[in-house]
Amino acid sequence: MSKIRFHKVAVLGAGTMGAGIAQVCAQAGSAVTLCDINDEFVQRGMQRIREFLQKGVDKGKTTEAQREDVLARIAVSTDRAAACAGVDLVVEAVPEKLELKNGIFRELGSVVAADCVLASNTSSLSLQKVFDGVPGQDRCIGWHFFNPVPLMKLLELVRTAHTSAATIAASQQYAALLQKEPILVKDSPGFASSRLGVCLGLEAIRMVEAGVASPEDIDKAMVLGYGHPMGPLKLTDLVGLDVRLAIADYLRTELGLEGFAAPELMRTMVAEGKLGKKSGQGFYSW
Ligand code: CAA
Repeated sequence: MSKIRFHKVAVLGAGTMGAGIAQVCAQAGSAVTLCDINDEFVQRGMQRIREFLQKGVDKGKTTEAQREDVLARIAVSTDRAAACAGVDLVVEAVPEKLELKNGIFRELGSVVAADCVLASNTSSLSLQKVFDGVPGQDRCIGWHFFNPVPLMKLLELVRTAHTSAATIAASQQYAALLQKEPILVKDSPGFASSRLGVCLGLEAIRMVEAGVASPEDIDKAMVLGYGHPMGPLKLTDLVGLDVRLAIADYLRTELGLEGFAAPELMRTMVAEGKLGKKSGQGFYSW
């Protein structure tokens, strides 16, 4: 087996996560096609990648040659079937809607080769449901990346009851090329990371709601008292309040635990468009 199992990769969804995933796959040496539903989205994704790489050059972490090398390995497309034809790996990073993800994977079943690995970047949805009805369940797996993808070391691999040992091994091997540390988790609501991370974020919002302390001081408690790199409210801003609200609602239903009931303040902020960093306003002004 050659060093890179995944020579050709399609990344579906050019948002924050998809752009980051395309970048790290290209950095690992794969030829990547970044695909989204329109040109504006793919161009925005490419802009994110260019800006990150440029920041790396400015910081002296990346050479100009490396930047150009990575960019040269990323093509863009708005045609999903064409982007996925002949690839060894598809990583899906579209919005967290079960029907959307499942529909895409069902459609791809007839487009990609039988040994093409199908990975979903879902942060909490049931992988069994995401891959329901997709031919070749043994090559289906969850690859949960973390934001900002190029900097965060974790890759949470989520196996369903059907994921083969070969698919897990290929994923672990590629994780090393991505310079990520993989963990292996069973398909269960919220996996290991989102279940714990969202729990902390929701409790922090309840504390703001109850006037326990300011967002800044609640965050400081976790940063200085517990050594977290970022407090739970700032992190909620970074991830997006809408994204975390959807996960909370899903986990509340799936796990049946009251602790995952979303605070009213969170719903109000999302309704008002205060989504965090991406909208310019959340618990902080960005
Ligand atoms: N290119 C290359 N290197 C870069 C870079 C770039 N563009 N930008 C930053 N870096 C490097 C820096 O040089 C620095 O390297 P050293 O440690 O060698 O000095 C390192 O990356 C950290 O960067 P900064 O010093 O600029 O920033 P920081 O120390 O504030 O760290 C952070 C930034 C990594 C984002 C940190 O704040 C952090 O870990 N925050 C928490 C993020 C988190 O929890 N993410 C998970 C969200 S949940 C999720 O994503 C799951 C989901 O499903 C939604």
